[in-house]
Amino acid sequence: MFVMDCLSVNEKGHLTIGGCDTIQLAKEYGTPLYVMDETTIRNACRAYKRSFEKHYAGKGLPFYASKALNCKAICRIIMEEGLGLDVVSGGELYTALQAGFPANKIHMHGNNKTPAELRMALDAGVGRIVLDNLFEMETLNQMAGNLGKKVAVSMRVKPGIDAHTHEFIRTGQIDSKFGFALETGEALQAVKQVLAAENLTLKELHCHIGSQIFEIEPFVQAAKVMMDFMAEIRKETGLAIESLNLGGGFGIHYLTSDQPQPYDRYMEAVSLAIREKAAEHDVPMPFICIEPGRSIVGEAGITLYEIGGIKEIPNVRNYVSIDGGMTDNPRFALYQSAYTVLIADKAGQRADYQATIAGKCCESGDLIQKDTMIQTPEVGDILAVLSTGAYNYSMASNYNRIPRPAIVLVRDREARLAVRRESYEDLIRNDL
Ligand code: LLP
Repeated sequence: MFVMDCLSVNEKGHLTIGGCDTIQLAKEYGTPLYVMDETTIRNACRAYKRSFEKHYAGKGLPFYASKALNCKAICRIIMEEGLGLDVVSGGELYTALQAGFPANKIHMHGNNKTPAELRMALDAGVGRIVLDNLFEMETLNQMAGNLGKKVAVSMRVKPGIDAHTHEFIRTGQIDSKFGFALETGEALQAVKQVLAAENLTLKELHCHIGSQIFEIEPFVQAAKVMMDFMAEIRKETGLAIESLNLGGGFGIHYLTSDQPQPYDRYMEAVSLAIREKAAEHDVPMPFICIEPGRSIVGEAGITLYEIGGIKEIPNVRNYVSIDGGMTDNPRFALYQSAYTVLIADKAGQRADYQATIAGKCCESGDLIQKDTMIQTPEVGDILAVLSTGAYNYSMASNYNRIPRPAIVLVRDREARLAVRRESYEDLIRNDL
């Protein structure tokens, strides 16, 4: 019935996740509630690691892109699974360090890291800082010099690949605020400047072509373009860069009709392309890093809400209101993202009611899904939105002073709280 292994329907006709009855979870922890299946997260981590072993002699490492969902419990799981961690802000870095994540396995991203964030990354001793622009490069070089440190850096390159996805989340093309452009010669020029910076060591080239991508070809193309660039750098400067980071972006199921590729197929195709290019240019095979975010946590998560008012407007639409909305999941409002929605306490029944799921914010655009089919709703039903593990909690806000929901982790029929629900006191904690 579900494409996610962690979901099922029990004898009561209730939706279950990780063997836990969602109605029970809603009762115990309240709604709205994010629920994450730990096994799914761990399995995804392992699948990525295995694909490196199978197709690239283990010469690579997945770095979980923690912007998808960053909290201490998730950082610990990623750490236990032996992955690296990609952070993009002082806040993400702070959380990871507080969770005990080893700094040398952290990559620090960001298109406009502040001097304070750079300093924090230096003090922590992160494994790499991914340079995005020359201003940052100069600041970092100077800072490292003052501290008497030599810093390992990566450089973000725009490979010019146009992945077929939503325009807002396309980043590999030239018209993007991220990284150095290849076509214009900007990237090569920047490489030369990094090489001239005495306190920086260029260890890696990085690219990221977008998010929620289903095709393998754009990744293969990006890998080829980057290998060509590495060969060009070697020719021009003599430097053989040891590591290539191909970013994240692998698509997941939001709807049953979505067709993500198994992780394995990606690594298989990309390894082949890299092998060929290495032979063609007679350059060493680089260490490969990837940065999956959504595909590690996305399908592991669901959100539970309680249904309140139901407004049936004849010949227009049926609004089914929930006790959360764009504050815990802004993705429909931002990207018109598709989601699978069902009534958790009627999960075994037919979805024969067309509903527009409305949030509780004072904002007409506060919808979770428009005209979607669900079971016939009644006040007090628990509504489940699937595949909300990525970019939901991490993009949540306090608009209308709505507290952020709790996150519960489930595993083998056991549930534990990972992030407490925000209280009203939390909301005014910093008010003076
Ligand atoms: N690496 C870099 C440098 C990135 O910019 C991103 C995502 C990732 C890795 C992880 O990509 P993933 O595997 O999760 O697709 N808020 C949007 C997604 C923005 C993604 C930004 N960068 C959404 O909700 O769809």
